[in-house]
Amino acid sequence: MSQTKRISIHGQWSSRWAFILAATGAAVGLGNIWKFPYIMGQNGGGAFVMLYLACILLVATPIFIAEVMLGRRARRSPVQGMAVLAEEESAAPAWKYLGWMGVVAGFLILSYYSVIMGWAMAYVERAMTGSFHGLDGAALKSMFEAFKADPMELLFWHSLAMLITMLVVVRGVRAGLEAFTVLLMPALFVILLLLVGYGMSTGHFVEAFSYMFTPDFSKLTANSVVVALGHSFFTLSIGMGLIMAYGSYMPEKVSITQTALFVVAADTTIALLAGLAIYPVVFANGLEPAAGPGLVFQTLPIAFGQMPLGVLVGTLFFALLTLAAWTSSISMIEPAVAHLVEKRGWTRVKAGIWLGLGAWLLGIASVLSFNYWNEFKMFGKTFFELLDFTTSNIMLPLGGLLIAIFATWMMRRETSFAELGLSPRMYAVWRALTRYVAPLGIVIIFVYGLGLLG
Ligand code: PHE
Repeated sequence: MSQTKRISIHGQWSSRWAFILAATGAAVGLGNIWKFPYIMGQNGGGAFVMLYLACILLVATPIFIAEVMLGRRARRSPVQGMAVLAEEESAAPAWKYLGWMGVVAGFLILSYYSVIMGWAMAYVERAMTGSFHGLDGAALKSMFEAFKADPMELLFWHSLAMLITMLVVVRGVRAGLEAFTVLLMPALFVILLLLVGYGMSTGHFVEAFSYMFTPDFSKLTANSVVVALGHSFFTLSIGMGLIMAYGSYMPEKVSITQTALFVVAADTTIALLAGLAIYPVVFANGLEPAAGPGLVFQTLPIAFGQMPLGVLVGTLFFALLTLAAWTSSISMIEPAVAHLVEKRGWTRVKAGIWLGLGAWLLGIASVLSFNYWNEFKMFGKTFFELLDFTTSNIMLPLGGLLIAIFATWMMRRETSFAELGLSPRMYAVWRALTRYVAPLGIVIIFVYGLGLLG
């Protein structure tokens, strides 16, 4: 059997569409709507956005393509897949640890992601019952502070979020949820446009726009540069083998680059729209851009409390955010599940339940880091912050660096050329970016940012 005829034991996507939907579902999530706007605010706006876009274009996109390519080539879960590819390309067997790092990163991310997904769920309830009506920024800030301070409530929603994640993971049938993604993306898009429209009515849209798109490089610190790079990986879900796992279910004939570019475009558009929806409200109400993880929960509800049909729009918004988080959370432990099924012969159900339980337990530490343990810091960060920092800003970029190195330095040119099916010119562009630009970018940013860990 020739190598290219391999089919994954976990099955195959029915079409190119199924891959696009699953990958977009994984990519678009809390990262776009919750995280991007608040880290932009913490890092001074425009210059950070420029840097983030540069990282997406020059570093993350070529690596996204490389990761899909490795997955489709190997037709296995990341750990096994890397072992097989390393053998095929006569590289060191230790490359399988790249797969391992992804398995661990996905598990760690899920533990706190579920906590924040719980926040979105809790806010569906608040929006539905009209709790935002007539509240100003200060009142919404206290509402959020009180919410965050209550470990039992956070735990309740975290548990529910993990439960619905596990339900889909163990069934292993994504068809239902993926079918959602077709509706979810346009709906999210429309509602964000609506909120951008509301932003225009506040009279502070121009200010928000120039905040986001006028770079002031004096605002950038070494930390911002590391965060922008890390976020470009987090938001596209790359560097941890998930896209490799999804790529391994991808049919032979499909163009990897086209599908990758679609996912990147959708993901970036949603993130920028979220910023354009939130910042006019921030400026119109004299709020703090650097408010941190509560930003979206403290700002958009002001709009929902004032606009006509605010109860409906607010409920829809948080429901869509929950769904977007859900299509991401189910993907995070795919590498781990696939590995346990492949290597240990576990059933999906057993793997899903144990991993889910583990991530749920670890998530409790993140829950507590917002209240009881909020003074307990390592490297100046709470547990949640440290976990987020280590996974997004260190593990994912490191995984991405290794993927880029493997795909362009270890793998023979003919292999990647055949797998990508690009014209020679486009192939040369991809290869130059993945072989030189992306690795150099990552290394420079790492070295530059290293000081901040001390
Ligand atoms: N990309 C997702 C988001 O933006 C987060 C994610 C990271 C999902 C890693 C899967 C793997 O919300």
